[in-house]
Amino acid sequence: MNSSSPKRLPAVAVLCSGSGTNLQAIINAARRGRLRARVAVVVSDQPKAFALTRAARAGIPAIVVRRGDFPSRDAFDRRLLEILTPYRVRLVCLAGFMRVLSPIMVHRYPRRILNIHPALLPAFPGAHAVRDALAWGAKVTGVTVHVVDEEVDHGPIVLQEAVAIRPGEKEAALLKRVHRVEHRLYPHAITLMLSGRARVQGRRVSVKRAS
Ligand code: GRF
Repeated sequence: MNSSSPKRLPAVAVLCSGSGTNLQAIINAARRGRLRARVAVVVSDQPKAFALTRAARAGIPAIVVRRGDFPSRDAFDRRLLEILTPYRVRLVCLAGFMRVLSPIMVHRYPRRILNIHPALLPAFPGAHAVRDALAWGAKVTGVTVHVVDEEVDHGPIVLQEAVAIRPGEKEAALLKRVHRVEHRLYPHAITLMLSGRARVQGRRVSVKRAS
């Protein structure tokens, strides 16, 4: 097996609850060699998430864990850990995963869980960031990829990119443009973390230029 064989690439897990367009962007980037990683497993808390279909189509194990099957968030996260551990993933990527991880998960993968958020954090945290930015009358919003810590939409920022809001722009149109940025930014952030070019020190993430 040589160094470019897929098995040798660092494994990542992607956790999704919905459509999985970011998952698809990660799969595509890996397939095209823009991301030197392989998606080893996809986990969803929603049995009907289209992300599961995307994973299956790409030949990636797709596993459902329903929150309702567990008495507590800790029990749910312990099951998540049981699922992820055998895949020996270097990174866990949350891509529209609508669950707040407990300290159990965060401590098991310190500085190794990423999340993507459709706003420039700390502005507009929460589940409706694009709608909230429009309602606020913001002129600029964007995308943040950050390391997950114990608080929601809070950890150290790896990458951010701004998206200017057009006058009179509707939510669907803005969402589409924000997504386009997400699909480029997330694979890039994963690359930076896996290659060691991004280093997390406290709240700051320093990013070295490519040599
Ligand atoms: C993305 O907008 C992401 O920023 C947010 O959830 C959405 C997931 O979309 N956390 P998709 O399932 O990847 O299409």
